[in-house]
Amino acid sequence: MNKRVYIQTVGCQMNVLDSEMVIADLKRHGYTVVDNAMEADCVLYNTCSVREKAEEKVYSALGKVKTQKLENESKIIGVMGCMAQKDQEIIFKRAPYVDLVVGPGQLHNIPKLLDKVRGGEGRQMAVSLSRKGGSQASIARSHETFDPLRDPTMRPTPFQAYLRIQIGCDKFCTYCVVPNTRGPEQGRSPDDILAEANILADQGCLEITLLGQTVNSYKYKHDDGSVTDMAALLEQLHEIDGIKRIKFVTNYPKDMTERLLETIRDLPKVSKYLHVPAQSGSDEVLKRMKRGYTVADYMAMMERIERILPDAAISSDFIVGFCGETEEDFKQTMELTRRCRFKNSFIFQYSVRAGTKAFERLEDDIPIEVKARRNNELLAVQDEVAKEDNLKFVGKTVEVLVEGPSKKAVRDGNVSDEDNGDHIVQMIGRTHCDRIVVFDGNRRQAGHFLSITIDDASSHTLVGRVKTVEVVSIGV
Ligand code: SAH
Ligand code: SF4
Ligand code: F3S
Repeated sequence: MNKRVYIQTVGCQMNVLDSEMVIADLKRHGYTVVDNAMEADCVLYNTCSVREKAEEKVYSALGKVKTQKLENESKIIGVMGCMAQKDQEIIFKRAPYVDLVVGPGQLHNIPKLLDKVRGGEGRQMAVSLSRKGGSQASIARSHETFDPLRDPTMRPTPFQAYLRIQIGCDKFCTYCVVPNTRGPEQGRSPDDILAEANILADQGCLEITLLGQTVNSYKYKHDDGSVTDMAALLEQLHEIDGIKRIKFVTNYPKDMTERLLETIRDLPKVSKYLHVPAQSGSDEVLKRMKRGYTVADYMAMMERIERILPDAAISSDFIVGFCGETEEDFKQTMELTRRCRFKNSFIFQYSVRAGTKAFERLEDDIPIEVKARRNNELLAVQDEVAKEDNLKFVGKTVEVLVEGPSKKAVRDGNVSDEDNGDHIVQMIGRTHCDRIVVFDGNRRQAGHFLSITIDDASSHTLVGRVKTVEVVSIGV
């Protein structure tokens, strides 16, 4: 047997989904999945280019696997994903023992390319066209991936799945590589999306998370000229019986329209949880980032959300230390965070990326110590507001979808394969608004909806206990 594959994934949800599909495809071609690189005949790294750190992680993992390759020359090493698309030949130069480089739009070629490497045809590379590498239609086609192949065993849990509704991005924020690595923005056809959602429901999936870089800008133009937008798509997905929760990430502030918010309000399965990155609280910085909105536009969106979905949870991403960010700019970001009271924020230190407008035209002039300090200060403000808001849940009962044992339970060694579900372990679940809840429970509860009474809260987690059901005896 020389078809044992190991896959390691970094990066965003798109990559998690891509890895699931590559594994589904490889299994159809007779591969089995192993859970460490040592045992594998083929080691695949699904990579991310969004920040330098993400790339370093991959090069350091490649460094480690090199010794295995030296001991066993037939072991195939592959690099797939955004770094493969961005760096292409550079990967072979930096790591000459790599056999395979495959961009995110070419993943369906992996089984064929592995056969070629095995057949002695040497290194293989499959990447999509660059943003100026052909006609609009041919560039778009070269970035399409093969979504209907699904493999429940590769998901974080069998009852939660990602579903791509949009490929690529056309926003070209000046700091970002994604429009280059994932190609032009394309909405997938509603028919394909619904067919895939039905497959997922048949596989027992209760929660789907729709994926797109600017997911709420989703649009699909039909041959007759009519257009399906995000609101219409949500209405159609809502009809699928088995699906109980629908989430979607990541949203673009400008496209959070009243119509979309009203649709979210009116569809009970759709989570009132909106991840809408602000990136900065300063108009000057937003302009240099070419985000296409002002702080006033963002606040107007917050006002729309507050009016139409008063209980919604909002989360954000921020980049600190972007080119030319002054202390005053940064203060405005802190202020925005206080005003918007995000459920959580992902905070990143600006990392200059080759191929972007910021790389070509702006100076990466904020020292790393300043980036690190701003990161910590913003995180402290974010944690403070999140804790205050989470504490408001104490004494209330929330409904969670139970995901499984918490990381702490696993770390403490309380989770064993012999456990048939009777042991009490710390379990983790999420509310409809995406709040993380931990409670003492058992593994049989995974994949079920439970009511949890909240006793305590921190900035990231609600802590509770399963609500005891009052048993009313009917007179015998
Ligand atoms: N499409 C999404 C984000 C995709 S990348 C959106 O527009 O919101 C995820 C996050 O990484 C971004 O929101 C941004 O905060 C961060 N990011 C992107 N490029 C970066 C860079 N060059 N340096 C630091 N953070 C970056
Ligand atoms: Fe990158 Fe901006 Fe597109 Fe998001 S919207 S993927 S940050 S270019
Ligand atoms: Fe990274 Fe590509 Fe996602 S660059 S963040 S894996 S789209």
